[in-house]
Amino acid sequence: MGLLWWGRGLGAAFLRTADNLRVRVAFAAAEAAPFVKVGGLADVAGSLPQAIARLGWDVTLYLPLHGTIDQATWGITGTAPERSVPYGASHVRVAYPSVERDGVRVVFVANRRIGRDRVYGAPDDAKRYAFFCRSVAEAIAQDVPDVVHAHDWHAALLVPMIARRAPTVFTIHNLAYQGQTSAAVLAPLGLASAKLPVEKRGECNPMARAIARADIVSTVSPRYASEILTPEFGEGLDGLLRQRVADVRGIVNGIDTALFDPARDPHIAERYTADDQRGKAACKAALQRQGGLRVDPESPLLGVIGRLVEQKGIDLLTAVAPDLLEGGAQLVVLGTGDPAYEERWAKLRERYPSRLFLTLGFDAVLAQRIYAGCDLFLMPSRFEPCGLGQLISLRYGTIPVVRAVGGLADTVHDLDLHPRDGNGFSFTQYDRAAFSGALARALRALRRGGDAWSALRTRAMREDHSWGPSATAYADVYRLAQERNVRAADGERTPLSY
Ligand code: GLC
Repeated sequence: MGLLWWGRGLGAAFLRTADNLRVRVAFAAAEAAPFVKVGGLADVAGSLPQAIARLGWDVTLYLPLHGTIDQATWGITGTAPERSVPYGASHVRVAYPSVERDGVRVVFVANRRIGRDRVYGAPDDAKRYAFFCRSVAEAIAQDVPDVVHAHDWHAALLVPMIARRAPTVFTIHNLAYQGQTSAAVLAPLGLASAKLPVEKRGECNPMARAIARADIVSTVSPRYASEILTPEFGEGLDGLLRQRVADVRGIVNGIDTALFDPARDPHIAERYTADDQRGKAACKAALQRQGGLRVDPESPLLGVIGRLVEQKGIDLLTAVAPDLLEGGAQLVVLGTGDPAYEERWAKLRERYPSRLFLTLGFDAVLAQRIYAGCDLFLMPSRFEPCGLGQLISLRYGTIPVVRAVGGLADTVHDLDLHPRDGNGFSFTQYDRAAFSGALARALRALRRGGDAWSALRTRAMREDHSWGPSATAYADVYRLAQERNVRAADGERTPLSY
């Protein structure tokens, strides 16, 4: 290939060629599909490493061996290498079984302090993930990669632990979860306890520490990258982020286009493509049938998939639902979340059994049928770092109606503002009237149908939301992190102290 990469020497850069040595990146994340999935982080950590590997990098992904990961299914068997991990005054035995998947080495960090039945929500999550970071740091310190890429607060403390030894990139998937805990977690990791200005006395904010220390801080869309610099979206860290603005990047997420593909999806009633969309009507009828709705091609079918929480605009959805259902639309909702909202939706189902198909849970197969079978897909988020649902629905020719915020603003372009290349409908003000207005415009266009609607769908389906361009952007960010790290080692840039 003859491509040149900058590797890191002791304070001085040396050249590495892709021919003689592949550049190595180590990912660390709390969840990754298909092994374990709670939210969008799993989709990204389960497909971005593969996309980076396809660019020629040598990629390792570190994941906690959660109790829910089925070891037999994934072939996580046999004897695994073990290490004695220093942790405070003691040493803890940790095993590192690994598997190979699509060109990526996935290393599971196995210890009973880490592996539980739930990925999140244990009372000692902060300590648990701190120990995960310590174990990953130990493994990579033995064989230092060229770049370390940590995701969200769970892997955040890896950044200060490893920053002197390797260039680091920290990706924010959701700034609302920072992992704040007691500063007592720091000492066993060998980290200084001096506090950051954003921390209260005696507090440790893992996400803030990673933001302060990483060579590059990235987030999952350009719009969210600029939003988080403001008090409205900064979750108290906007000041710190503004200090790092020169090192903040926004790279939009991609999706796994082999998994989400209406031309090959094994779970949908009939397959279809942008050129021949006839199968989509069969998918709609099958979904109506499965949900006990009236099988009617003329009734608009609207989908919602996601956590039923404020971030996702569940209050707006709940407010507009009765009008939509009374107006003749049908709704399919899949997700779990705030119990108060779950209850209100269960009541709506009692009132409108033939118009609302509600599933309070997660079901990947049903999700694909919803993406394929619906006419419109709704995401009125309060904030949205990237959002994947709108990208998947575009791929299935299901037109998104979204609030123009974060990644939704970057990927959905309102048809009325962009008649030639719009791919959905959007609104700006977070209120019921604005959402209803966008819905009314979308429903009018759907009812009018005809060539304009098919052209819209075709455009949506033809868009490229694969990882390709974003993986290349990450590779550039890795090279930038290497450069920055070399300079920091040379004393040109002093990382923010803490
Ligand atoms: C989080 C964000 C979502 C993003 C996902 C993957 O779940 O809320 O917007 O798409 O992470 O980056």
